[in-house]
Amino acid sequence: MSIVEVRDLWREYTIGREKVYALRGVTVEIEKGEFLAVVGPSGSGKSTLLHLIGGLDRPTQGVIKVGNVEVNSLKSDRELSKFRNEYVGFVFQMFHLVPRLTAVENVELPLIARGVEAGERRRAALEALKLVGLQHRASHKPTEMSGGEQQRVAIARAIVTQPKLLLADEPTGNLDSANSKLVMELFKKLIDDMGVTIVMATHNLELLEYCDRAVRLVDGRVAGVYQKGEYGKLFSK
Ligand SMILES: Nc1ncnc2c1ncn2[C@@H]1O[C@H](COP(=O)(O)OP(=O)(O)OP(=O)(O)O)[C@@H](O)[C@H]1O
Ligand SMILES: [Mg+2]
Repeated sequence: MSIVEVRDLWREYTIGREKVYALRGVTVEIEKGEFLAVVGPSGSGKSTLLHLIGGLDRPTQGVIKVGNVEVNSLKSDRELSKFRNEYVGFVFQMFHLVPRLTAVENVELPLIARGVEAGERRRAALEALKLVGLQHRASHKPTEMSGGEQQRVAIARAIVTQPKLLLADEPTGNLDSANSKLVMELFKKLIDDMGVTIVMATHNLELLEYCDRAVRLVDGRVAGVYQKGEYGKLFSK
């Protein structure tokens, strides 16, 4: 069963008189519980695709369905932010934690947006921190944690609302290889335990061994789809 359906998706930007085509007709279906990698050269449209699926940006043309929501039909900022809060968790290369808040307070933030009561918020945030193996860092501020720990706090914040979809844009871009592997193991665990679906943009082809499938973008188009076992072909690109 597919949880994400993207059909003939276009995103163009106008800068002065010039048009920049970030996506030119991308079509892809993503299965529930799948761990999908999006790869391709810099500027090929990976981040744009993730932003559009997650309702952070609006397409020029095309269809995006997540569950039974037609995301491309959501027009107002309010509708889009409601969709994001209900369906999507984001993880970015820069962890984007709030520096003056502790780990557990950072994880609570999406629940405040939902109007969850304080006691329940704290309970859910601590549980999410436990899931990423950081309950012992709950009262630490971001500067008091390693990069790997900060990214795991950001992941806890992304999953505390139990989203159906986790969108990760270069989540290991600022991590060493040991911490990158930890994050990949964690993503696999989240798929098994929560049934979440993960779409990850990455430049690191070594992480593909953790993924079920890879879509390669070139110049805003799908240039290839690779199943597990075919990733070798990507290394020669
Ligand atoms: N806000 C914007 N205004 C104009 N052009 C943009 C904007 N955002 C992205 N682009 C252009 O769209 C194209 C795709 O960008 P995108 O960020 O999706 O690439 P990417 O594959 O994520 O690259 P990277 O691997 O470097 O992160 C690029 O040519 C980029 O310059
Ligand atoms: Mg990018």
